[in-house]
Formats: sequence, C-alpha cells, structure tokens
Amino acid sequence: MNQILSVVTIFLALASSGKCSNVYSRKDFPKGFAFGAAASAYQWEGAVDEDGRTPSVWDTFVHSRNQANGEIACDGYHKYKEDVQLMVQTGLNAYRFSISWSRLIPNGRGHVNPKGLQFYKNFIELLVSHGIQPHVTLYHYDHPQYLDNEYGGWLNRRIIEDFTAYADVCFREFGNHVKFWNTINEANIYTIGGYSDGLTPPGHCSSRSICSSGNSSTEPYIVGHNLLLAHASASRLYKQKYKDIQGGSVGFSVFALGFTPTSSANDLIAVQRAKAFLFGWMLGPLTYGDYPDEMKRTLGSRLPVFTEEESALVKDSSDFIGVIHYLAASVTSVTHVKSQSDPGFFTDMGVSLKSMKLCLFSLDQYAIVPWAMEAVLEYIKESYGNPPIYILENGTPMKQILKDTPRIEFLQAYIGAVLNSIRKGSNARGYFVWSFMDLYELLSGYDYSFGLYYVNFSDPHRKRIPKLSAHWYSAFLKDNTTFLGSQGIAQLQSNFSSPY
Ligand SMILES: *[C@@H]1O[C@H](CO)[C@@H](O)[C@H](O)[C@H]1NC(C)=O
Ligand SMILES: *[C@@H]1O[C@H](CO)[C@@H](O)[C@H](O)[C@H]1NC(C)=O
Ligand SMILES: *[C@@H]1O[C@H](CO)[C@@H](O)[C@H](O)[C@H]1NC(C)=O
Ligand SMILES: *[C@@H]1O[C@H](CO)[C@@H](O)[C@H](O)[C@H]1NC(C)=O
Repeated sequence: MNQILSVVTIFLALASSGKCSNVYSRKDFPKGFAFGAAASAYQWEGAVDEDGRTPSVWDTFVHSRNQANGEIACDGYHKYKEDVQLMVQTGLNAYRFSISWSRLIPNGRGHVNPKGLQFYKNFIELLVSHGIQPHVTLYHYDHPQYLDNEYGGWLNRRIIEDFTAYADVCFREFGNHVKFWNTINEANIYTIGGYSDGLTPPGHCSSRSICSSGNSSTEPYIVGHNLLLAHASASRLYKQKYKDIQGGSVGFSVFALGFTPTSSANDLIAVQRAKAFLFGWMLGPLTYGDYPDEMKRTLGSRLPVFTEEESALVKDSSDFIGVIHYLAASVTSVTHVKSQSDPGFFTDMGVSLKSMKLCLFSLDQYAIVPWAMEAVLEYIKESYGNPPIYILENGTPMKQILKDTPRIEFLQAYIGAVLNSIRKGSNARGYFVWSFMDLYELLSGYDYSFGLYYVNFSDPHRKRIPKLSAHWYSAFLKDNTTFLGSQGIAQLQSNFSSPY
C-alpha cells in the first residue's frame, strides 16, 4: 500500500512540476495560445482549371516530372463547407491555409479573378463565423507560371513588385478577418529544394540529368534574396496602409531542423555553420539586417549584398517567425572543396546531414525526438531576440491508416516539447498540426500522408473519415486531457470502432 501511494505521489509531483513533458493538458498552455491544423492551396483545393485559375509552377513541375498531381487533391474548393464543419467538431482554434496566387490573379499581376476572390471570401468568413482564426500563407511553392515564363519568377527582382501588389489585394480584401499573415512558406527549404536540389517546384538545378534548367551554385542565393525583399516589401505595405485599421501581423517562415553533432569537435563547429546557413540565411537579415559572416566568407560574390536601404527594409520586417519543424539531423563536418563545380547549398554549408531516421527527405514515419523541437525554439530565442513564434507545421507521415497510434505518440511528444519551451521562456504562441487531412503531398504524392482525417482518394466524393489522431487531438483540445501513456492510448483505441 505504501509503495502504491508513493508511486502515486511521484506521479502527481511530476504532473504538477511540469517536468515530465508527457503530463500536460490544454489548460497548461498560456491564455490565447492557438492550436490548429494546416494545409495549402495546391495540396487541398483541386479545381486547378476551374473558375479562371491558371497554372502555377507547381502544376507545371509535376506534369514535367510525370508525378501524381493535385488536380483534384481533396477537392477542397468544392468541399470547404464540410471541412469547416470538421474543424469545428475537432475544436480547432485556428486554421492555416494558403491562397493560390494564380486563382486570385491569373496573370500574376493586374486583373483580379472575381470567382477566386469570392471563394476565399466565403471560406474565410465561414471560418471566422465559427470562431476559427485564419492564418493565411501568401506563397506556398506556387507562383503563377505566367510570371515564370515572362521573367523567371523569383530569379528576377521584378517579382518583388508583383508579389507586393498581390499581397495588397489580399490585405485589402481579406484583412478585416485575417489577422495572421505568413508571406513565404518555409523560404529556406523552398529555395534549396526548388533551386539547388531541383526536387521540388520549380525544379531548377545544375544537373541536366535531373533539371532542364538552373544553377545550384548561384540561383538559391538570388532567390533567397528576392524572397526576403518581397516579404519585406509586403510587410512595409501592411504597416503603412493596413496595420492601424486591421491590427494584424505579418510573419515569415523557415524550415527548422534540429541539429546535433555526430562525434568530433569539428562537428560541433559544423553545427554552428549549419545553423548559420539554414536559419541565419533568413533570420539574420530579418533580425540584424544582414547575412551571417559564415555565409559571406564561404559564398563570396555568389551571395547578393543588401544595400543600406534594403537592409533597413528587411530588418525587423517580420512580426513573428513561423517554424516548420519535423526532423532532427546529426551533422558531420565536410571540407569544402573549392574546385568543385557548381556546389549546391549543402556543399556550401560544408556538412553532411543524416536525419535521425533514413534520409533528410524520408517519407516514412519520422523519428520521435522532441528534444529537437526544444532545441530549435531555444536557438531562435537565444540567437534572434526571442521573437513571437508560430509553429506552423509539425507532424509525421504514415501510410493511410485510421488507427494511427504512432502519430498520436508523435504529436503528444512534440506538443509537450512546445510546452517545455514555453516554460523556459520561448515566445511560442501557436501550434499547427500538419496536416488537417490527408493531402496531395509535396514529396510523396498520395503514398504517405500526414492527416488527422483520412481522405479516400479513390472515392469521387473524397470522403473524409476521422483517424484515431483526430479523436485524440479533439479530446486534448476540448476535454483538457492527453490520454497519457500506453494505457490511455489503448483505451482511446478500444473505443474507436473502426475495422481498419
Ligand atoms: C553556374 O554559374 C557559374 C558561375 O557563373 C558557372 O561557372 C557555371 O558554369 C554555371 N553552371 C551551369 C550549369 O550553368
Ligand atoms: C474508398 O472509396 C472507394 C470507391 O468509392 C470504395 O470502394 C472504398 O471502399 C473506399 N475505401 C474506404 C477505406 O472507405
Ligand atoms: C477545458 O479547459 C477550458 C479552459 O480552462 C475550460 O473552459 C473547459 O471547460 C475545460 N473542458 C473540460 C471538459 O473540462
Ligand atoms: C471510452 O468509452 C467509455 C465508455 O463510453 C468512456 O467512459 C471513456 O471515457 C472512453 N475513453 C476514451 C479514452 O475515450
């Protein structure tokens, strides 16, 4: 009896001290902390050539590579009302999605498509009428193909003006209801994937066996520069024209790996270099007005230079940082070979990365290493002035199954890590599960998915079914419980009467 009592006492002590990241509930989070889930336009909407939408570079990319595509995806364009009902039932405080630039402004600039405008107005108004906060991303891998054809998209500074005009339309038309704007989705990995490795839209790289055009040693840095300037320009416009009336905020988001050294002292230095390249590349200019010294030293004339005016424009242009976090990687130092032709981003970084499970772009279930989330939040707090943070994506891919217990274990661990970070002073203000439902995925098409809701992609009606993780997240949000430990999950599972 005594023994049992002391076990109970230890359990309660852990619970109340908050040291154990598995023991927490919704109520432990600060007032106003937003819990949500996320998706993006091309991955969810479908209806790619309906009501005046024109192709984006993402449409073009998947067709040129003969990949599965988002032509129908979840058919969200037609099913948004049903989806908002699911969000309400789940108990989401917030929902993150992106606007398709080429649905709203088919030629990239000028004429606004009234049907595109109406769709987003309807969707946003419905969310708000149910008390769900919209968090809107303006750019998610999908600038209008028209602008790519005309002047090379992000490779050309002309896009800064066009992006700002597009943002202007969004702020003007939706800003009464939208208070959280994310200009560019995971700008660093978008640039690396799209202009260094060529694995994601628009598919540029130096290797002509993979990419029909591009230059891995120069384009990533030009594109990164133009993304920062476009963000800063849109952000300035918001401050000048809308902020006083609408009271919202404009942020920028980065893909954030957790880094750990492999073994030697050199690897410790390599971790610093990896952080400078992956985070500092974008957060350096946003916080301090310039690129990190490590990047300037390594890249020389390949790294664009900010004029004084641009530096002032970019510095402090982000009201919050959006963090996209999934993976941890162990870092091994690799000596930079100067003679190598067209080094890509990771060669420039001078490290080799090995993710905690399989490769960096592993599509199979991600390793559960919540320390990596804490490390990312701690690093941003310490190195970039503790900015407000929204974790805009976190989750794990799996084959499409309904009893997705490993996903619950993943989310439970990472939400606990966010809470730990908040207790240590991180300015985190929101957390979004990627993804609300199974989507057309950037790297895995329909083979692996991240959804809380299953989508039957063989069904013309694209029927949605809640997975076990949807029940878990909903119970966490509504009932303040986390179904602790294997016993709780087993109970949740036994109540879940699904055959598959
Ligand atoms: C990439 O740019 C560099 C520097 O201008 C040049 O030396 C190299 O040949 C280019 N590579 C390709 C594939 O065009
Ligand atoms: C998906 O839809 C197809 C076609 O309607 C149907 O045959 C199949 O049973 C559905 N699968 C599930 C898991 O509901
Ligand atoms: C969960 O916590 C919230 C905030 O403290 C409270 O309003 C709500 O009633 C709680 N729900 C349950 C089922 O206890
Ligand atoms: C499972 O169902 C029982 C009976 O309806 C209920 O008392 C219990 O709270 C449920 N447990 C979970 C984890 O949903």
